[in-house]
Amino acid sequence: MPNKIKWLAEYSVNNVAIDDQHKYLFDLCNILYILVEQPVATQSTKEALLGLTEYIAIHFHEEERHYKEHPLFADHQELHQDFVKQINGYIADYNKGTLKLIELADFTRDWLTDHITVIDRQYFRDMIWSSQV
Ligand SMILES: [Fe+2]
Repeated sequence: MPNKIKWLAEYSVNNVAIDDQHKYLFDLCNILYILVEQPVATQSTKEALLGLTEYIAIHFHEEERHYKEHPLFADHQELHQDFVKQINGYIADYNKGTLKLIELADFTRDWLTDHITVIDRQYFRDMIWSSQV
């Protein structure tokens, strides 16, 4: 399945607990790719989407604890909030039948990988650096 996310070393933020949470988010996203074959919303897809959104909320809350002291904390929190709004919009469209599950899965995959690589890694680097000065 070519669309699935595979964990790569370059995604590590050098925090084992957060890396494990990111890996679990990848697993939840990869479940969507298993479900894309189903033509309409089913109980399994609804449960998978609920599980994904619930875990995203838990993860963002936990991740944000790590850089509360970062001068650009609010910017990062806003990115998380925007993503939550976007994914809820995608889920609403999917439930209405106007969006395919593959589009939702691809959006989730692309957002997660971009965000972790660019934003999360930078913030965790900054916090490690600031704790050493
Ligand atoms: Fe983040």
